[in-house]
Amino acid sequence: MNFVIQKYKHPYSIGDLFIALNGLFKDYSPLLLEEIKKYYPNDHIYLTDKGRESLNIILKNLNLNEGDEIAIPSNVCEVVIETILYNKLKPLIIDITDNLTLDPKDLVKKKTDKTKAVIVVHHFGNVADLDEIKKSGLILIEDCAQTTDAKYKNQIVGNFADYSFNSLDITKPISAISGSILISKKPLNMNLKKSYGLKSLFELKLFMILNNKIVYNLITKRFITELKRKEALKFRIKNKAMSKASIALAYSQYKKYNNKKRYNPPEQLKNIKVYSEINNIKKPSFNVIPVKLNPKKLKKIIDLPQPTPPLIYMPKYKQYYSECPNTEKIYKELTLLPTHTDLSKIKWEKYII
Ligand SMILES: Cc1ncc(COP(=O)(O)O)c(C=O)c1O
Repeated sequence: MNFVIQKYKHPYSIGDLFIALNGLFKDYSPLLLEEIKKYYPNDHIYLTDKGRESLNIILKNLNLNEGDEIAIPSNVCEVVIETILYNKLKPLIIDITDNLTLDPKDLVKKKTDKTKAVIVVHHFGNVADLDEIKKSGLILIEDCAQTTDAKYKNQIVGNFADYSFNSLDITKPISAISGSILISKKPLNMNLKKSYGLKSLFELKLFMILNNKIVYNLITKRFITELKRKEALKFRIKNKAMSKASIALAYSQYKKYNNKKRYNPPEQLKNIKVYSEINNIKKPSFNVIPVKLNPKKLKKIIDLPQPTPPLIYMPKYKQYYSECPNTEKIYKELTLLPTHTDLSKIKWEKYII
């Protein structure tokens, strides 16, 4: 049998399971907030159950009119467009640059009088063109679901916009099974239900078993992609706060993240197209590494994370389609590599397209 590297991995230990369990009795939110303040020192911080809950709160607090437009990049996760539609707002789909982030020039071209806000996604940990996008004059929302400490002009992303949020599900750089951190420059109104998070505790234990390398190769890899896809299709807003168990787990995972970073692109990838701008202004913090390589061959050694299809390929959003030539070009050849494992020993020449 061919053993492959798992798609996702997190530094969960038995100690984390105990902390999450302890979270049912002890309130870990002051400790978690202390950790998060290291990333976002000056803002109001709220703990919600999911990224979509955070975005929903942001959109509600904007008090927009039905039919107002929210600009989003063409390659954003489906949940974002669903949350916009749930709020009776209209998505305006913008093309991406080779950095896989929203193209400011296409935003200027497509923006109308009805466009009120723009959601900038730091895709896969790449850093978007924040200054250029700010020039649009729109309300800026940073979607940091796929990055934790990428930097723009030496400042951690999530600190630039009026609002920002992340996600702590298992496909993200830090995971508390479920959860989201919502950051705002001003206080926000919300009414969130509290929960203990017994489901998260159960899922944490299950993830630890199913993601064990042997169990993963014998069983999990056969159904995990389909399971994640089905889960993504179930869209619901529950107005829930982060559960007590997830708050405790998020605290222990943030502390671990401070000690152990994810891997960056290995040296050997220098000769391969990496879809990322890395320079003095933009310092990505990769959740996965977006590259141009042959996925069919690579799948024999790595169970590759799957990029969600761009919105312009999803028939249910047909009425919102717009021209996005760069998205079409890039997504034909995009492969994602995991960053939880050291890939420097792989012979990359074999996988070049
Ligand atoms: C870019 C982006 N935004 C938002 C979300 C939504 O996060 P959640 O699943 O926690 O609602 C995701 C999750 O997949 C994402 O990748």
